[in-house]
Amino acid sequence: MNNTRQILSKYPADRQKLINVLHEIQDANEYNYITENDMQQLADFFNTTKASIYGVVTYYSMLSTKPRGKNLIRACKSPVCQISGAFSLIDALKKELGIDQVGQTTADKMFTLEYSECLGQCAMAPGILINEDFYGRLDEDKLKGILSYYQNESPSS
Ligand code: FES
Repeated sequence: MNNTRQILSKYPADRQKLINVLHEIQDANEYNYITENDMQQLADFFNTTKASIYGVVTYYSMLSTKPRGKNLIRACKSPVCQISGAFSLIDALKKELGIDQVGQTTADKMFTLEYSECLGQCAMAPGILINEDFYGRLDEDKLKGILSYYQNESPSS
């Protein structure tokens, strides 16, 4: 049984569960995304079309149809973070990660950098989310320490 089938076997075929199922499938994927094959299995399971599953996946910014790094960095670019230096922080992030643009994945597949709207932590601006963890009041030095923590985690952890 593949991962997706295993995950689906825990759920009723109730479309209200679709978002939960999608998150679980994405988390179980080594590259943090929903594959074409997943979407077909979901369509069969929920008795709908693959196009409608695709529509849901592409609507939610936390979900992806493209392979991403093991760690997803979401950098806030909303106004409070902007006036607190979000864009120089994002430049520092790109430099540290060795990527040219937001949206790219590092060569070692450890990180993908994406933009985010307000993360609800404006008092701690500028902030980023790495996977589920928020980091705020960031500067370049703090950033290096945080990235090296994730770099040093084993690829399979
Ligand atoms: S504006 Fe960045 S956390 Fe609110």
